[in-house]
Amino acid sequence: MSKENTDLPEKKQKTNEKDRAFGEGFEYTHDNPYHERLGVFEEFVLRDDEAEANAGNWNNKAFNRDAPLHTEIGTGYGHFMIDYTQKNPDVNFIGLDHRFKRSFNLAKRLNSLQHKNFKYLRGRGERLGHIFAESELTKIFYFFPDPWPKTRHHKKRLFQKRFLDEVYKVLKPGGEFLIKTDHDGYFEWMCDVMKEESRFEIIFQSFDLRAEHPEHFLSSFVTKFERIFLEKGIKIKSMIIKSKKES
Ligand SMILES: C[S@@+](CC[C@H](N)C(=O)[O-])C[C@H]1O[C@@H](n2cnc3c(N)ncnc32)[C@H](O)[C@@H]1O
Repeated sequence: MSKENTDLPEKKQKTNEKDRAFGEGFEYTHDNPYHERLGVFEEFVLRDDEAEANAGNWNNKAFNRDAPLHTEIGTGYGHFMIDYTQKNPDVNFIGLDHRFKRSFNLAKRLNSLQHKNFKYLRGRGERLGHIFAESELTKIFYFFPDPWPKTRHHKKRLFQKRFLDEVYKVLKPGGEFLIKTDHDGYFEWMCDVMKEESRFEIIFQSFDLRAEHPEHFLSSFVTKFERIFLEKGIKIKSMIIKSKKES
């Protein structure tokens, strides 16, 4: 925790940390024992700002091979990451989540996989533009993000202009950002944010993915949270936005 913040109430500190996470001077702070425990998986896990040293060099230094670089924000229990990396050994994949214990449990599972075409980052999605360099990524996946349903928390939603600035920066020309959510309110919010966007085009949009597009790639896998929502009969909303960046 930075010195100037120590007198603030805890709630206020958290809000500030999230806002600051986008910026240049941000430093990760924590006293979580899983930070140390994640060190066991140093072959493929990078913690906090360790990942940012690789910006611009993921393929040639971290993976030692040239391949399309993809990332998933909010990997959770890793259902998509595991399925996708093992079915697509020709991509370089980076999973990212900010929860410590969840990250540790996932790292244990990742350690036993056949194809090691991935890295895992314990860090924040807000740091996207610091973890990756200009035009480094081909695809970004964002599935069932925390919806922050209360009006006073909407500003915590990751999908906002400030975040799309980072998405635009790190995606290659024609790069794609693929989204699924259970939450009507967050999906409407995303659609509203997109109305103000001229840097991306929406190339796919559905308010009921599985009924309308059962053959689509986004219907071809089920994440842990998605299964819970499907069992409750909730319709899956989805969108793919494509960068209009010139090559
Ligand atoms: C509802 S869970 C969904 C997990 C997974 N994608 C799935 O569909 O099963 C949301 C995940 O996003 C992570 N998360 C939330 N905000 C984040 C942020 N700002 N940066 C990185 N991860 C975040 C949480 O820790 C959690 O694991």
